[in-house]
Amino acid sequence: MIVLVLGSGGREHALAWKISQSSLLNKLYIAPGNAGTSELGENVAINPEHFDKVADFAIKNKVEIIVVGPEGPLVNGIHDYFAKDPGLSSITIIGPKKEGAILEGSKDFSKKFMLKNNIPTAKYKSFDSATIKEGELYLDTMKPPFVLKADGLAGGKGVLILNDLKEAKTELRQMLSKKKFGDASNKVVVEEFLDGVEVSVFIITDGMSYKILPEAKDYKRIGEGDTGLNTGGMGAISPVPFANREFMDKVENQIIIPTVKGLRKENIEYSGFIFFGLILVKGDPYVIEYNCRLGDPETEVILPRLKSDLLDLFDGIATDTLSERDVEIDPKSAGTVMLVSGGYPEKYKTGEKIQIGDLHERSVLFHAGTKQENGEILTAGGRVISVTSFGKDIESSVKNSYTTISNIHFNKMNYRKDIGKDVIKKVK
Ligand code: AMP
Ligand code: GLY
Repeated sequence: MIVLVLGSGGREHALAWKISQSSLLNKLYIAPGNAGTSELGENVAINPEHFDKVADFAIKNKVEIIVVGPEGPLVNGIHDYFAKDPGLSSITIIGPKKEGAILEGSKDFSKKFMLKNNIPTAKYKSFDSATIKEGELYLDTMKPPFVLKADGLAGGKGVLILNDLKEAKTELRQMLSKKKFGDASNKVVVEEFLDGVEVSVFIITDGMSYKILPEAKDYKRIGEGDTGLNTGGMGAISPVPFANREFMDKVENQIIIPTVKGLRKENIEYSGFIFFGLILVKGDPYVIEYNCRLGDPETEVILPRLKSDLLDLFDGIATDTLSERDVEIDPKSAGTVMLVSGGYPEKYKTGEKIQIGDLHERSVLFHAGTKQENGEILTAGGRVISVTSFGKDIESSVKNSYTTISNIHFNKMNYRKDIGKDVIKKVK
């Protein structure tokens, strides 16, 4: 098969790494990719948002499968663009059409969808610029902390959690009448705060059947002990100790099955991944958010634990035979630690030379923001390299990553030293 992966982060490097192990693969392209993906396939300088350029390339190079890494192209309709053109419609797109990607693209839609399908989630109401007053009155009825969510995509920054009622009302106004998050905050979801531990669950689906992939926990804050600003993700672990059989059965019955059935009921054809951002409250799972793609850096720990051939699963989607395919998961643990540029998630410098020494034998590097120039590898983003390692448990997998990290250097390199520590403590 000839495959094109769209995107340039650690998630896309991990996808390319897994795909490159498949005996079904003939040729792998990554657009635009990074210094790491260029070792596995051919990087192509195309912006995934330029659908016409992606299409031209796909036709010329006889691409059969396009795997869409980030949400942007999906929410903006890349799958629809290919499906409606008879010259392109035979190419399989891994990722939903716009009508499915709206599960991530609109929080208001996803909350309504959950309510309709009896899927456990925080109580909420949505408001727009005409109903700001009602929004303030609704906030009056709630207990702090107050959760405000911009309806649309806001680059991971559209959720505000505030302790002060007055501040919550001010922010609601800023979002709705001052477009704090641009058009993404034309509508705002105000919802009840849920207190619990978070876990990310992933499925791959052809719209009829689904397969559950390994679950993961990510570490979003920049600082140790989950402090400081939110980032794209500073590390992840899989499996998640509290996501035991009983919990996963609840997730499947109360969340996954009603979601897949709900999509069918609404005649939404969905193919690709669904990422369930869940929170465990008093033994029960609730949905915090849906994403229409894999997570980053969760992918860097879930794909290494997938024993099955990922291209075989994609072929199952292409031919509507996913139900006949096997998903086998490795019981060993995987942990990943993200190396970031000093200053991230605020201002940071790029173009720093990266030196990579010996890796621990159980480590694998997934590049995020890197580029190759004159034979050197340079930093090219906030998140730079995701260092994944295997181990018999979370503790040893993360320890192996820290051993590898001691041999990687770039100016102002930063990383969290406590990935996985919270769950290790709880298990003991
Ligand atoms: P989201 O973009 O919806 O994933 O929200 C970003 C983060 O905000 C989540 O990963 C949670 O940590 C937190 N969050 C969102 N909604 C809630 C909620 N209702 N209760 C508690 N925390 C939340
Ligand atoms: N790690 C969270 C995300 O990919 O949205």
